[in-house]
Amino acid sequence: MNRKRICILGSTGSIGRNTLEIVRQFPDRFEVVGLAAGGNITLLRDQIGEFRPRVVAVMNAELADTLGRLLDGDSALFRPEILHGTEGYRRVAAHPDAHLLVSAMVGAAGLLPTLAAIEAGKTLALANKETLVVAGEIVMDLAARKGVSILPVDSEHSAIFQSLQGNNRSALRRILLTASGGPFFRRGCDELCRVTPDAALCHPNWSMGRKITIDSATLMNKGLEVIEARWLFGVPVDQISVHIHPESIIHSMVEYIDGSVIAQLGIPDMKIPIAYALSYPERLPVQVPPLDLFQLGKLSFFPPDEAKFPCLRLAYEACRKGATLPAVLNAANEVAVSAFLEGRIGFMQIPKLIESVMNTHTVAGTLTLEAILEADRWAREEAERLAAELALERQP
Ligand SMILES: NC(=O)c1ccc[n+]([C@@H]2O[C@H](COP(=O)([O-])OP(=O)(O)OC[C@H]3O[C@@H](n4cnc5c(N)ncnc54)[C@H](OP(=O)(O)O)[C@@H]3O)[C@@H](O)[C@H]2O)c1
Repeated sequence: MNRKRICILGSTGSIGRNTLEIVRQFPDRFEVVGLAAGGNITLLRDQIGEFRPRVVAVMNAELADTLGRLLDGDSALFRPEILHGTEGYRRVAAHPDAHLLVSAMVGAAGLLPTLAAIEAGKTLALANKETLVVAGEIVMDLAARKGVSILPVDSEHSAIFQSLQGNNRSALRRILLTASGGPFFRRGCDELCRVTPDAALCHPNWSMGRKITIDSATLMNKGLEVIEARWLFGVPVDQISVHIHPESIIHSMVEYIDGSVIAQLGIPDMKIPIAYALSYPERLPVQVPPLDLFQLGKLSFFPPDEAKFPCLRLAYEACRKGATLPAVLNAANEVAVSAFLEGRIGFMQIPKLIESVMNTHTVAGTLTLEAILEADRWAREEAERLAAELALERQP
């Protein structure tokens, strides 16, 4: 059987490592052509040794030199072409030998390389939700023009995608997105003002990268997923609702016009949706523990508390207003999450900062990639300025 040739952006991250675990489980099915990391060249070197990609890319020229020296110092190691920076990421994403790109960098940094892959006609396994949040309309238009399939990796979107199989899209009434609620679902508002980065990084069900783990704690992750679903499935935002489901067993549901609700269930393990995106429309015998629903006994659901988690409301607002506002929401969130992780701002200052930046933004009239990139740049600058002000206020 011909192996599917894949490239992975963000190979050193949580999704990237889980993707390589699937390749490890199915060496006859997949071949790694390209890998891209940010700065973790020690892990990238190990991945190069194991998967022998033709090309790799890292964040900058200095890291590329260091990686080159690491590989030269070990004569047993295979040596791929080493690229760097946005252009390097684009070349990995659009590599002529690859069939499919797993887009799994974190943040808006994934946008331009992902667009390069679509431009080159690669099938896209999309984990980097920020790409669709920031430029959903542009990404979906380009994919339609190029005849490119976008296969969701996010567990909720994979669940929706699976629940839509074999059904007529015009019969869809609603999308019901489930959310674990994160580590603070049961905490009071006053407690949330005092939570530490370490507490916020302890997700009850999922093991993920730091940024998405904080996004899960603020519910911004769910907000970003609402916008992602709006573009991926072409559904108006007001037909997408969010439901807290602390067990993370139902990964999302769709409701049809005849009243039927179809859901996808499974243990919370990203290898399941990753494997489905890699092998679609086939299914692979992935090595994960089975779901024992009957042992679990009960599944529970709660409405989201928007007073405790204002990020969800902000994301709906950005999606409804559209144009450059979702890019501003995303950029301000990236800056706010970093500032929180560095101890510069408090947990409840994350939504405050994002809302201030959104309120100051003048939404661009015509939506172009340039306008989006400019809004992203402006929002980061504005958010950094506000974070510095908030940090000063916090000083004793
Ligand atoms: N983790 C999950 O379970 C999960 C589930 C659904 C969706 N997602 C989405 O998947 C994406 C990745 O999440 P993750 O949890 O895998 O994140 P992660 O563990 O933090 O990994 C991020 C990856 O991106 C690289 N990276 C970070 N900043 C970069 C930059 N500026 N330029 C180039 N590369 C950069 C990192 O490289 P280095 O580490 O080498 O610096 C790493 O390989 C996010 O968009 C997230 O929302 C994740």
